[in-house]
Order: sequence, then structure tokens, then C-alpha cells
Amino acid sequence: HQVKEPYRTGYHFQPPKNWINDPNGPLIYKGIYHLFYQYNPKGAVWGNIVWAHSTSTDLVNWTPHDAAIYPSQPSDINGCWSGSATILPGGKPVILYTGINPQNQQVQNLAYPKNLSDPYLREWTKVPQNPLMAPTQANQINASSFRDPTTAWLGPDKRWRVIIGSKRDQTGFAILYRSKDFLNWVKAKHPLHSAKKTGMWECPDFYPVSIKGQNGLHTSENGPDVKHVLKASLDNTKREYYTIGTYNIHKDIYIPDKGSVESDAGLRYDYGKFYASKTFFDSSKNRRILWGWINESSSVEDDIKKGWSGIQAIPRKIWLDKSGKQLVQWPVAEIEKLREKGVKLPSSVLKGGSVHEVLGVTAAQADVAITFEISDFKKAEVLDPSWTDPQLLCSQKNASVKGGLGPFGLLVLASKGLKEYTAVFYRIFKGHNNKYVVLLCSDQSRSSLNQDNDKTTYGAFLKVDPLHEKLSLRSLIDHSVVESFAGQGKACITARVYPTLAIDVDAHLYAFNYGTDDVKITGSAWSLKTAEIN
Ligand code: FRU
Repeated sequence: HQVKEPYRTGYHFQPPKNWINDPNGPLIYKGIYHLFYQYNPKGAVWGNIVWAHSTSTDLVNWTPHDAAIYPSQPSDINGCWSGSATILPGGKPVILYTGINPQNQQVQNLAYPKNLSDPYLREWTKVPQNPLMAPTQANQINASSFRDPTTAWLGPDKRWRVIIGSKRDQTGFAILYRSKDFLNWVKAKHPLHSAKKTGMWECPDFYPVSIKGQNGLHTSENGPDVKHVLKASLDNTKREYYTIGTYNIHKDIYIPDKGSVESDAGLRYDYGKFYASKTFFDSSKNRRILWGWINESSSVEDDIKKGWSGIQAIPRKIWLDKSGKQLVQWPVAEIEKLREKGVKLPSSVLKGGSVHEVLGVTAAQADVAITFEISDFKKAEVLDPSWTDPQLLCSQKNASVKGGLGPFGLLVLASKGLKEYTAVFYRIFKGHNNKYVVLLCSDQSRSSLNQDNDKTTYGAFLKVDPLHEKLSLRSLIDHSVVESFAGQGKACITARVYPTLAIDVDAHLYAFNYGTDDVKITGSAWSLKTAEIN
């Protein structure tokens, strides 16, 4: 049977049509969540950028509003680019965003709600002083690399701080500005942080995390139980890296912990497609929430044909892992209210070389959570010390390459007969000094018979010791997107896929084990209802 829009999602955020990119200025005001985002009102490719706007009471169902911020004054006449919201003491939200001026320079502007009694914050007023920050001869800022202000934070000296992404040559950095009144901003002599050879830092984010548990912190919070996170989206590779470190607010110095770097060896929120992300503090539930843009992996021609491009990831709660060495992410609990029919997978042994269909759920729109248990580690392959790039390792040892322990995992958006499938799986290797190394892969190479898509395989090492912990995997499947959370949220991989056969009711879901050793599986799967989105 024919499906009209096979790739439109059922519960991911997207507008009815056209291009979207970065999430902007997420906030909660009077109990209502706001999401703004980069949007082209005129087509399915990037351009004519305005801040589109939707609101929600549950982060699941969304109501669209008119564009909140659009070109209207010289300081943003050529585009309203990314930015962030700050909730001022007393509860009033303001937005700092990048405008493109008539000379196509990147400058920073301020807008505030026209009417604070409107919980939907539908109209925004720009201050006449705009732009508040601009490149000049004196400040040496590169006018085409000066964008994406963060949420501002307040110091004990009553001055606000904000950072803005930039680069000089190939050194990426976060320019720091300070202000007493949010209107007059003075550039600090030194950037908050920089890193060589990383190129332009887009959409920086800087926020505190608690070393005690999962609660989020207000962006201005600091103290002995607090560490800080600095994230940059690297324009060169379209990858995001974050570091965890210590922020000295008196000296305005951020020092990443040892081993924490913004490069291949560094940490990523998501090892698949996930970019230009931004967090905000949800004061109603004391949690920090991460929003990220998931771009298409299809051709521009296909995007134009289908009339849209880009979705937002399911918002994720984000907190510091017990180790203090990485962050942990989990889809906000609200998404679980979309669960309807569930099936429990009876605890069973998945024999080496076997495939087991998960029946009873709508496999094209589902939430699956599986746990794998290994009892015998003898057959684990030995990890070659040169295998340091998990993405490369996953593409060389793809889902069809038999191993000792693994590959085992899920075949999602799979066609009957497995002409098409996306494989999300684990492989366990034996590293040095008897430590086991867990590799997580998302293999898109067989995801579609259409050859025009980017089918890059993604991979990540997972910091879990399989000797002492069970390996869990949760995947949110939604027609053309698969978001996978491994090890209770310690590693995430998001992929876009465009099956030609495994569409709607013709999509299937399997658990598989192509290793030689057996693994025990338990778990559940749910069909997810379609959310009311825009
Ligand atoms: C990131 C980005 C930002 C910029 C915006 C423009 O995807 O390039 O740096 O502000 O998108 O739409």
C-alpha cells in the first residue's frame, strides 16, 4: 500500500513544512515550555532565517505561533540567527540572538516580550540600542565568525556574563562579554576558553552541573558541589564536543579537567547526527534539558521533493555521571505518556547467529528497551590497540561481520526478509589488563535501497564494565529517525534513515545476535502514539 509521507515523524518536533535548523532560546515561562528554532518560511533549504515559535505544556504536544523574531531592523535585516534566552531575576525572559546586518556582519541583538501577561510570549520587542555587540576595528572580532550567544549568567559582582562563538585562523573560541544592565556589554580581554585546530565554534553552551545526583542547576549557580560544562558545535566537522571542568567566576577562567578536550578524543552528546544543541534549566522540575537539531541524511533534491528538512531530537534530561567524567542523557519522562500497547520480551537466550522478531508493536513508531546479559566472556575478540576510532571500527565490523561477543542488538525499521534494516548493536572486545571494551554501533549501510542517502555508520565506546553491569539499549524509532541510548544514557547515537520497503505497517523490529556466543535478553517494547505537533 502507498504511504503519503513515509518519512514524516510521529512524535519528533517538526513544522508542517520547510527547512528548520538549530533549536533557539528554549525556556519555561508561567508553566509553558517555549521552543524557538531557525526556520525558512519559504522553502525546504536553508535561507531567509527567522525564529519560528511553538509552545507546549508537556514537551510532547506543541502548538505553533507566528514567528517570534524576524528581520525588521538594520541589525538583523539579513537574518535572525541563533541565540538563547535568559530569565532575569524576577522572572522576565529576554533573548540575545545573532543578527545579520546590511554589511552581512554578525552582530548581537536583544529582544524582550511585549506583553509579560501573555504566557505564550507571542510578541517580542527589539531594543532600539541594537546591536549591543558588534565587530569593530578595535575589538578585532572576525565579522563572519561571531555568533550564537548563550544564556547569560550572573556573577556575585552583579555583572552578567555571556559567551559568543568565534574563531581566529583555525582556533575556535568563546568570546566573553560582561554587562551590568544587559544593555551595555563590554568584551573581556580573554576568551572564556579556546582550542587550536577546532575551527569555528557554533552554538556554544556553558552551564553548571551538580556533582550530587541528577537535578539540574540554574545557569547562574556555582559553588563547591558544582562542575561546569562547555560545549561547542564545530562547523568544520558538524560534530559537537563538550568538556567538563572548573569555572572560577572571580577570574572568569574555565579550566577543563585533565583529558577533557574538544577533539576526536573528546566527549560528544551524540555520536550520530545531532548538532547546534542547547540546554535550558527547567525550573518547574529542577532538571536541565538538552535540545538538538537532527539534520536530514537525504539529498537536497529529495528534501525539496518532500517539502521539508530537519527535525528536533526528543528533549533529553542531562546530568553529570557519578564518575564525574561524562554526562548522562535520557529522553524526558513525558515521552513515555505516548506509550500505548506494550509487549514484554520474555527473558530468553538469543543463540549465536539468530534473529528474533519483536511482534505486537508498530515497529515504525516505537520505544524499545532491551537488556543484554553475557555469562561467558571467553570468546571476546582481542582489541587491537590501533582500533581507536569507534566510528571506523563500526563501519569495518558492520552488523553483518560475525564476531565472538557480538554483534548483538536491534534491527529497526527492517523489511520482511531484511532487504532493508538499520542495525543498532554492541560488540565486546577484550582490551589490555583483562578489561572489556564495549563498542556501540548504529549501522545505516543497509537502511535503504535508495542510494542517494548518506548512510554513514556511527560508533562510540561505552564506559560500562560488562563484567559487572548489564548492557542496556533503548531506541526511539520514528519513521525516519532512530535515537539510541546505550548504558542508561552514557552514549547516544542518532541516525536518519529513509527505508523504501520498511515503511509504516511494513516495518519490522528484531533482536539479533550474530556473534558466536549466546546472550540473554529481556526487555519491553511499546507502540508510541502520534503526538500533536504543530
Ligand atoms: C548552526 C548555525 C549557527 C547560526 C545558524 C544560522 O547550525 O550555522 O551558527 O547562527 O545556524 O541558521
